[in-house]
Amino acid sequence: MTSDRLALCVTGDDAADWLADFRRALPDLTVTLWPESAPEATMAAVWKPPQAFFDAHPRLTEIFNLGAGVDALSSLQWAPTARLIRLEDCGMGAQMVEYVCHALLRHVREFDHYDADRLAGRWAPRPPRRPGDFPVGVMGLGVLGAQVARTVAGLGFTVHGWSRQRADVDGVHCHAGDEFDAFLAATRVLVCLLPLTPQTENLLDRQTLGRLRRPGYLINVARGAHVVDADLLALIDEGRMAGACLDVFRSEPLPADHPFRRCAAITITPHISAQTLRSESIAQVAARVSALIAGETVSGIVDRSQGY
Ligand code: NAP
Ligand code: GLV
Repeated sequence: MTSDRLALCVTGDDAADWLADFRRALPDLTVTLWPESAPEATMAAVWKPPQAFFDAHPRLTEIFNLGAGVDALSSLQWAPTARLIRLEDCGMGAQMVEYVCHALLRHVREFDHYDADRLAGRWAPRPPRRPGDFPVGVMGLGVLGAQVARTVAGLGFTVHGWSRQRADVDGVHCHAGDEFDAFLAATRVLVCLLPLTPQTENLLDRQTLGRLRRPGYLINVARGAHVVDADLLALIDEGRMAGACLDVFRSEPLPADHPFRRCAAITITPHISAQTLRSESIAQVAARVSALIAGETVSGIVDRSQGY
């Protein structure tokens, strides 16, 4: 790297805090905030930037994505030689583990029913349900999926995992890409932690969800566009799926008239399963900037031909 300028592109009420914290973490760099950022910047730290940001910064060689998923950048153009580097974990793994374990146990222990009973004035214990009857399948065994799969296995659930290359995760039955059918057939509660790519978009459709053990349950904490919304709703209507816990949607905020909002079997949250934590994220980017300046390699470099 030849320059000492980093352009920051974040929106939101805390943009000034991001700028101040980046400046503190990288005191030897000039850090500027879009749209007033320096056009000669060779490094950028971004979250959902517009194309105009890249057009205004033609000299970028390193682009740090302030999130784990890079799908929001897939339709944008920038210098083909620039490296895209994503966040890895930065406190998101622990949040994801909490969210998925909560959603799983809430479903298995039927808390939705007890909430409904309370509202209806009913006092009605239900028969016990055992983890052994709810095998869990985790799609994506990367930085986040592996932590989730390992923890869920530790709770006493049978856990299957699926990734492109066969992974090795303690206590988890790991399936490789071409073993998708076997993975689905073994799964009742499906957890999606895949990146959104052309290969994974619309993957959770009638055919895929219909192959789960019945009635299945979906926990989607990756991206909304993995799911074919109408197919999920139809399978719930038909009783083939018991319901879903969804943190991500094709359109966010989820439109007020979207049928997911009216479906009692679906729990929704506003994309909060694993939020970007400012201090952890800036520390990781700053460490990588220093490593790159020192000529070292860093992890988190996105393979743009794979889209993640
Ligand atoms: P990661 O480390 O890149 O892991 C991705 C995993 O998906 C890898 O195991 C990979 O397999 C697998 N995979 C990719 N394409 C596949 C395919 N076509 N078939 C089968 N497996 C495939 O990503 P991560 O850091 O765990 O994050 C995962 C996703 O979580 C992000 O992309 C983002 O969309 C989402 N996320 C959501 C939130 C939220 O708040 N809702 C927060 C953070 C992240 P290989 O290992 O074989 O390559
Ligand atoms: C959040 O959704 C992320 O990808 O970090």
